[in-house]
Amino acid sequence: MNLAVIGIGYVGLVTGAVFADLGNMVICVDNMEEKVRMLENHEMPFYEPGLEEIVAINHEDGRLSFSTDLADAVRRSEIIFIAVGTPPMDDGQTDLSYVEAVAAEIGRNINDYKIIVNKSTVPVGTGEMVKDIINRFKPSNIDVDVVSNPEFLSEGTAISDAMSPDRIVIGAPNKRVAMKLIELYSTMEKPMVITSVRSAEMIKYASNAFLATKISFINSIANLCDRVGADIEEVTRGVGLDSRIGNKFLRAGIGFGGSCFPKDTESLLYVSRKYGAEIEIIDASIRVNRKQPDILMKKAADALGGLEGKTIGALGLSFKPGTDDLRESNALAIVSALLTAGATVRVYDPMAMEKCKPMCPDATYCEELYKVAEGADAVMLLTEWNKFKHLNFNRLRELMSGDMFFDGRNIYDPQVVRRAGLRYYGIGRGADG
Ligand SMILES: NC(=O)c1ccc[n+]([C@@H]2O[C@H](COP(=O)([O-])OP(=O)(O)OC[C@H]3O[C@@H](n4cnc5c(N)ncnc54)[C@H](O)[C@@H]3O)[C@@H](O)[C@H]2O)c1
Repeated sequence: MNLAVIGIGYVGLVTGAVFADLGNMVICVDNMEEKVRMLENHEMPFYEPGLEEIVAINHEDGRLSFSTDLADAVRRSEIIFIAVGTPPMDDGQTDLSYVEAVAAEIGRNINDYKIIVNKSTVPVGTGEMVKDIINRFKPSNIDVDVVSNPEFLSEGTAISDAMSPDRIVIGAPNKRVAMKLIELYSTMEKPMVITSVRSAEMIKYASNAFLATKISFINSIANLCDRVGADIEEVTRGVGLDSRIGNKFLRAGIGFGGSCFPKDTESLLYVSRKYGAEIEIIDASIRVNRKQPDILMKKAADALGGLEGKTIGALGLSFKPGTDDLRESNALAIVSALLTAGATVRVYDPMAMEKCKPMCPDATYCEELYKVAEGADAVMLLTEWNKFKHLNFNRLRELMSGDMFFDGRNIYDPQVVRRAGLRYYGIGRGADG
């Protein structure tokens, strides 16, 4: 099929590359010329494992192209995906201005019947809004249908998530359109959930809010474990093996971040309040998450007798491993808070340092991970990159001037750390203090 994907971000680029790989002709459109130029030279605008290869192969084979010409892409495509950003506004509601602008552009340039697919995460009712905007601008003799097809990929595993999703949700206004999307996705051989447009929009928010709440729930239990002398890692193993619960997203740590969970929970809460059906559990989940970085900060301040004048080594900046995305990163929030408290912070991240430098110029950026430990009173592990999972604690200890290791992601057995003469502080595992 001939497809257009508007918005070359994490979702748009991965979606475009995967559809091209499945044999479709795909034009990816962005209004940032620089991004388009980079991609034509096979330079990725962000880091995502496996992305460069799949983009290069499909671009060279002529199935995947990049353009700033939205009008031309609309005319040449039968299905048009909208994958632009939907950032949060100050009050939590979703800023739909990018979606609205694209809908108007589509309306102005439409030359034939098209299916418009919302891949961006958008509040319930946006599908109808997009259709209204297109109708306002398009010639009256041309028809469109608007579908909601939310994206569930995670950064760091985006290609495999998009190639092999748990399920494909298609919110279609009628059977004919649903059949067209089913045909497009049929080669993936994955379960498809066909719903109304509004239900599909809600499925995305309900899924993200549930996962975020699972994290906040286990973090709350972890904080109690600290007080009562239980170990959250033993607790989560005992809880997570219950097949009704499962162990995914049941890891205690410094909280959730990234470009989706924080904004999507805020947006769902905003919508629930707007309709007079406030989801109080989401409110609690957001509040728990906001406080979670402070738990590690307080442990460090208590153990070190204050943070001012101390040197802290920080491992990790991105909001999760496998990405250089710093949006709403709790690792970055902790580094910034340490700097504000008067500490010297030596940081290392395998992928996110260049992006971080303009945002956090006062940190000391180390070109190698063990360099963060040089002269450090404490080292903090903030993002669970694989590279940080087999640290040589003897080497770390030798380079440090202090003896404290803060495991913000609970990835280590405290005994392994202690054997090197370090004191171990995790989340919900008691303290050596
Ligand atoms: N990042 C994720 O992990 C993820 C996962 C699932 C869903 N989503 C959702 O997908 C959507 C996109 O997220 P993202 O992280 O890919 O965003 P992003 O910010 O990385 O990319 C959005 C792109 O859209 C482009 N754009 C904006 N206005 C445009 C216009 N008028 N014409 C052409 N291009 C335009 C921007 O230049 C940018 O390159 C959001 O709604 C997000 O919530 C994101």
